[in-house]
Amino acid sequence: MSSKGLALGIDVGGSGIKGAPVDLHKGEFAADRMRIDTPKPATPEAVCKVIGQIVEHFDEVHDDSPIGVTIPGVVTEGTVRSAANIDKTWIDYDVKTLLQKELGHTVHVVNDADAAGVAELHYGAADNRDGLVVLTTLGTGIGTALLYNGTLIPNSELGHLELDGVDAETVAASSIKDKEGLSYAEWAKRLQRYYAHLEALLWPDLFVVGGGVSKDSQKFLPLLNIRTPIVPAQLRNKAGIIGAAHLAKQAHRLR
Ligand code: BGC
Repeated sequence: MSSKGLALGIDVGGSGIKGAPVDLHKGEFAADRMRIDTPKPATPEAVCKVIGQIVEHFDEVHDDSPIGVTIPGVVTEGTVRSAANIDKTWIDYDVKTLLQKELGHTVHVVNDADAAGVAELHYGAADNRDGLVVLTTLGTGIGTALLYNGTLIPNSELGHLELDGVDAETVAASSIKDKEGLSYAEWAKRLQRYYAHLEALLWPDLFVVGGGVSKDSQKFLPLLNIRTPIVPAQLRNKAGIIGAAHLAKQAHRLR
């Protein structure tokens, strides 16, 4: 394939770091995904080393291929600003500069939920929808992406809305469901509170629900009583990689 419609996406998660070259015309992987366990401790230096190994692995990556990397925290101008569920040494770490120097590629660093939102908008559940699309990822924490008329409003961090005196992700993330052994019906009550609050504040046109648990969406989405249409994400665990690649290509073009 020509390097034109291709970018490499890398998704940094709590248990694995995954990457694949993405065919941006189709929104599909152009080669099998590579996964390496997230190093422990997951310091920026250790994670960047693994990212380097993933970049090396793919022949599809040419010298001019953009690279997109997701991080589960706020990212402004390539620097990580928050670390709710990752090693605190990430805070104020300029990942972009370090990776560009090490890899010799243009690198775009983006919040994980923002990447997933962009992927679902262009290639998945939100299908180029106009209006306000709010993607939420339910996992270790709660990530959110706001997309208005196709434009990403980055770093929304609505998983940390304070609800009933607590940070919403500490009661409604899917990791909490597992930790507390909640049934889907019990968990759905917390999700009801969360999504009803979100819709009262934002009046979105569509909610897209991602994260690993979205594969079981039929067990909890039908239990929610909200006015906004709410659908499961379609790209599942590919969304971060695809969205990161898409945004990297976009940033490359705008340079
Ligand atoms: C972080 C977000 C991230 C989300 C999902 C939250 O705790 O603050 O930046 O998108 O987890 O990983």
